[in-house]
Amino acid sequence: HSQSVLYGPRVVATRKLLPESQARLEAQGFDLVQWKEDASMPRDLLLKEVKGADALLCVLSDKIDKEVFTTAGPQLKLVTTMSVGYDHIDLATARETETKIGYTPDVLTDATADLTSVRAAETGEWREWRPDWLCGSQFTNRTLGVVGLGRIGEAVASRLKAFGIGEVLYWGRNKKPVVEAKLNAKLVSMDTLLADSDYIVVCCAMTPDTKELFDYEAFSKMKKSAIFVNTARGGIVKQDDLVRALDEKLIAGVGLDVTTPEPLPIDHALFKFPNCVILPHLGSATVEAREEMGQMCIENIVAALDDKAIPFGLRL
Ligand code: DGY
Repeated sequence: HSQSVLYGPRVVATRKLLPESQARLEAQGFDLVQWKEDASMPRDLLLKEVKGADALLCVLSDKIDKEVFTTAGPQLKLVTTMSVGYDHIDLATARETETKIGYTPDVLTDATADLTSVRAAETGEWREWRPDWLCGSQFTNRTLGVVGLGRIGEAVASRLKAFGIGEVLYWGRNKKPVVEAKLNAKLVSMDTLLADSDYIVVCCAMTPDTKELFDYEAFSKMKKSAIFVNTARGGIVKQDDLVRALDEKLIAGVGLDVTTPEPLPIDHALFKFPNCVILPHLGSATVEAREEMGQMCIENIVAALDDKAIPFGLRL
C-alpha cells in the first residue's frame, strides 16, 4: 500500500500502445512497467514484473494463465487485453480471484483481401490479357455462410451484401432476430451451412465449442467451389485437415488472417497452395482501431483502480 501512495498503482503493460494512447497512459501517474521493444514481453520478465501489479495490460500473444494470476498476487484488480478475443486468458482463475477482465469489443474486422493477383503482377506471370486467367467467382446471388453472427460477423455480412451476396446463412449459439431482419439472414444447422454456402466466413470466438470445428469432415461437406475465410482464431480450424482438404481439392480457396501457431513457420505446407492466401493477423490493423483499443484499455485500468465497474469488461 505504501508503494501505491508513493508511486501510484503498479500497472504492467506487455506492449507499447500507439502514440496517442501511449501518451495518455504515461500521463496517468501510474507506476508503469512497460516492455518497449517491438516484440512481446518475454514470459520470464512478465512473471517477474507482474508481482505486486494492480493492473495488467496485455495483448493476445501473452498467455495469461493461472501462473500469471498467482504470481501477480491478490491485489491484482484487472487484466485488460488489447483485443476483442480473450481465449488467451484463463477466465476460470479470473473468476476465482475476482479479477476483472477488460477487452476491446466493437473493433470491426474487414474481410481478408485476395492478394493472389498482386503477386502475379509482380512476378511477371501477367503475360497478356487472357480471358480465363485468374478468374474468381462473382458475389452476385451467391450464398454466404457466417459462423458466429456477432459484431464482426454482422459487419462482414453487411459489407458482402453490398457486393451483391444473395442469401446469408448463419450458425451460432443464439438466434439473432434483429440482425436477421436487417440482413435477411437465416439460422441454419452447421451441416446446412457447410453444404449450401459459396463463401464461409468464420467470425466466432474460440471456445471449447468452436475449437477445431473445421476438420476434414467439415471441409468434405463443403461445395468444391467453396471459399473458406477465417479471421477469428487459428485454433477453430484443424490445420492439418485444412492442408489435406486443399491437397485433395475439396474446396476452391482459403483466406486466413489467423493460424496455428502465429507466426506460421515460413516453410509451412499452407504457404505452398496458390489458392490459400495468408495474412499476418491484421484484421484490426488500422491506426484508428488500435488507438481506440489502447484508449479502452486505459479507461478500464482507471476504473478498476478506482474500484469501479470497468466500461469494457467481460461478465465473468
Ligand atoms: C482481436 O482483437 O482479438 C484480434 O484478433 C486482434 O485485434
